[in-house]
Amino acid sequence: MPKEFLIFAGTANPDLTSAIAAELKVLPGACTITRFPDGEISVELLQSVRRKEVFLLQTLSPPVNDHLIELLALTDACRRSAAARITAIVPYLGYTRSDKRHGRRQPIAGRMVADVMEAVGIDHVLTMDLHAPQIEGFFHIPVDNLSAVLTLSNTLGKKLAAGFVVVAPDGGALRLATEYAQRLNGTVAVLHKRRETGTRTHVTHLVGDVRDKPCLIVDDMISTGGTLASCIEALSRAGARPDFTIAATHGLLLPGARQKLSQEAVKKLLITDTIAGAPTDWPSLEVVSIAPVIAEAIKRLLEHQSLGEL
Ligand code: R5P
Repeated sequence: MPKEFLIFAGTANPDLTSAIAAELKVLPGACTITRFPDGEISVELLQSVRRKEVFLLQTLSPPVNDHLIELLALTDACRRSAAARITAIVPYLGYTRSDKRHGRRQPIAGRMVADVMEAVGIDHVLTMDLHAPQIEGFFHIPVDNLSAVLTLSNTLGKKLAAGFVVVAPDGGALRLATEYAQRLNGTVAVLHKRRETGTRTHVTHLVGDVRDKPCLIVDDMISTGGTLASCIEALSRAGARPDFTIAATHGLLLPGARQKLSQEAVKKLLITDTIAGAPTDWPSLEVVSIAPVIAEAIKRLLEHQSLGEL
């Protein structure tokens, strides 16, 4: 692996930073990230990045706007300090649910974030399980969209009851559900949901046979838990066995999510560590680290190898 690379990290996920650095057997680059009294963010790199390959690690978890500005400020600092190339590693890319205009006077915030990231000088983006794969097209720079499906499937393989159905809680999750089903050898069902508010969704249709079957519900993210709660309700109404396993890449787990998903019928909830701060006292919750996948991607980028298998 070439020696001339550095990894700096924002403050969003220190444990993931340490885990990736440990996999690569390097120390994160030295920098300070502080707040001015008015809340503005101040960044300083404490070592030279001149002509170096730089990786900036920052997940866009809440507070998403602060974490985004940290990433942009780190990028600007690297660019002005003559870094050779800047790769942003953003395991969870926030704002990507805003990928189209839902009303007549709304922004496409996912595109806006992509524009700002490029404008500030990011050369390459490494992310994971984008909300929709076509979001890659919001960028003009290379985007590598890694997947947690293999990592989570390997953990799930040992825990699933026979005859399970992989359920997509909405049409957007169907591609993900199909990937899980192929890896785990299950059948697929899909729900159609209508979002009523930011926290309330309503399931209108179910396509697939779930009667008397255990279900593996998969999604890219759990935010308020509203989508999964209505999915469980709809599956139960359709006669599914009260034996639900949930797998989601990004566990934002906002306040209220735990309450919605702490049901007797939810036997296991599996997420990755793209978002920091998952509760440690929730018996059915298991967090699987994607640090090895990201570290492997960094190694391959440094060696100009393909990331296809990841
Ligand atoms: C929506 O299309 C996403 O894939 C997730 O299903 C959704 O954003 C999860 O949000 P919540 O947990 O708040 O329902």
